[in-house]
Amino acid sequence: MEIVLSGIRSTGNLHLGNYLGAVQNFVKLQDDYKCYFFIADYHSLTTHPTPENLYKNVRQVLVEYLAAGIDPEKSTLYIQSDVPEVAELYLLLNMNAYLGELERTTSFKEKARKQPENVNAGLLTYPVLMAADIVIHHADKVPVGKDQEQNLEMARKFARRFNTMYKVEYFKEPQPFNFGKELIKIPGLDGTGKMGKSEGNGIFLADDENTIRKKIMRAVTDTGPTVPNSEMTEPVKNLFTILEIVSEKDTVNYFKEQYQNCTIRYGDLKKQLAEDVIKLIKPINERIKDIDKNNEYLAKVAKLGAEKARESASKTIKEVREIIGFKKFY
Ligand code: TYM
Repeated sequence: MEIVLSGIRSTGNLHLGNYLGAVQNFVKLQDDYKCYFFIADYHSLTTHPTPENLYKNVRQVLVEYLAAGIDPEKSTLYIQSDVPEVAELYLLLNMNAYLGELERTTSFKEKARKQPENVNAGLLTYPVLMAADIVIHHADKVPVGKDQEQNLEMARKFARRFNTMYKVEYFKEPQPFNFGKELIKIPGLDGTGKMGKSEGNGIFLADDENTIRKKIMRAVTDTGPTVPNSEMTEPVKNLFTILEIVSEKDTVNYFKEQYQNCTIRYGDLKKQLAEDVIKLIKPINERIKDIDKNNEYLAKVAKLGAEKARESASKTIKEVREIIGFKKFY
């Protein structure tokens, strides 16, 4: 059975981009694949080295994963730092990752620009840790959003390099996955760029109905088309991108036509978009509230996940040590 793996950083609540770009796909895959889903709390330290409440952040993502439909019996759902074997593999892979290639990755350059006061080595080697996450369970497929494409390319490169260096056919090369479609990028509501946890442009799975309505009604647009069939500006295109994913085809066509003949009222588009987003998020939101109360269940899930993940990870580490040539003297 093919293996699927993916992760989410514990730097904040899950937003619509996380859900549509990744988590929704995880949920659909868990019946047909051996799945590993985890909370990347080591990774979160690259941007938030002294988090106010690491435990609370991890817990929140765990709750939201479960609320979104991940079944801890079917899939292995775990917390990255519960599997220290990942850190060991990261260390070993770091020996075969080069400064030049790491410095050139887009996400490193972006983060270095965003946090010039904290360009730490963890940030630089972020793709190596991500590769360790993936190859430690020999994943074939990695359901992610478009923003992770380059990191995955690096993971393939590190897997390939390990095989070449040690003359083995050991690690597989993990492929990005979205049911045969292109990986997607959900835009934010501020008119430019992707929806993100720290950009202040997101709709969160934990948002209540009114918050969602308010956020969408405040989304950036423009003054409206004046010439029929004109090109959309980025903020408007972004709203249509979300509409196309969450709404019925007829709805999309209706507003597109209105845009093309210049009769569109963005307020109406936003109202419809808000209702369709609410329809999607509301059941998850309600489950978040329920699961959040259940400490015992969360403890059980985390323990089960850690056990299952460590079983697979420790086997890999043992084999990797042998391949590299570590041998016990006792
Ligand atoms: P993170 O936590 O930024 O995002 C989690 C997942 O959500 C997707 N995503 C989006 N998809 C579409 N549109 C958006 N606006 C959007 N924002 C986020 C991401 O592509 C991702 O799939 N490095 C990873 C976490 C990670 C990981 C891994 C993923 C660590 N190790 C191993 C896969 C395999 C990250 O920061 O995702």
